[in-house]
Amino acid sequence: MSSAGGGGRRVSTPSLIRVWDPLVRFFHWGLVLSIGVSWLSANSLEDLHNSTGYAAGALVGARAAWGLVGSRYARFSDFVRSPRTVLAYLADIGRGQEARYIGHNPAGGAMVICLLLATAATALTGWLLTTDSFWGVRWMQHLHDLLAHVLLLLAGIHIGGVMLASFRHRENLVGAMIFGRKRRED
Ligand code: HEM
Ligand code: HEM
Repeated sequence: MSSAGGGGRRVSTPSLIRVWDPLVRFFHWGLVLSIGVSWLSANSLEDLHNSTGYAAGALVGARAAWGLVGSRYARFSDFVRSPRTVLAYLADIGRGQEARYIGHNPAGGAMVICLLLATAATALTGWLLTTDSFWGVRWMQHLHDLLAHVLLLLAGIHIGGVMLASFRHRENLVGAMIFGRKRRED
């Protein structure tokens, strides 16, 4: 809101901005839960493992659609950047000079894509193991197992990146993924 007159000085700029819409937050924590349970039940509870694995796959499908038509910071166009931009951002991190972003930063955006792809590929190979063509096929079992481990590794790096960015920019990014809001100013 501006004050009257030509000066136009802002007098009530909100200091918090809505970044992550409810669907993004539901998707994120649903993914953490479904992948976590799928991991923990992999060698013991087959039905639970399969249903939480399917849930993870469905969440990725929903998020991919939301990346095309969703709110501003949820869109792929807001955070998918060229490899050159991602590498330049990583170099900036190395120099301790990386910019703060309201949405995903270029490196975080690249990680989002890797996590979505790894989750989709893990769920897909898991489903294939239940089909007549691939049931009991060893190389498919190994591929599913490998993808699940790649996913776990990526999630570990992702959490490390979230911690680093939270520390460097003095903000609670986990809180932002829960409540949806971030500080507007740098
Ligand atoms: C299986 C484990 C995990 C997966 C697959 C995962 C996946 C993702 C994905 C896909 C996003 C992008 C959100 C979107 O735009 O839709 C994201 C963002 C985020 N995740 Fe996770 N995540 C995992 C675990 C965690 C955990 C345990 C935490 C908390 C410690 C966390 C904190 C965050 C935060 C804070 C963001 C937003 C990052 C930013 O501000 O740019 N994630 N995660
Ligand atoms: C993203 C979700 C998923 C994760 C993280 C995951 C992870 C794993 C892991 C770690 C194993 C153990 C492999 C081993 O110890 O040899 C496994 C096995 C298995 N998973 Fe999944 N999985 C997921 C989704 C699915 C889905 C959707 C299905 C099918 C509906 C499925 C079906 C299976 C089957 C049949 C096995 C046993 C393979 C064998 O006989 O060695 N998984 N999964």
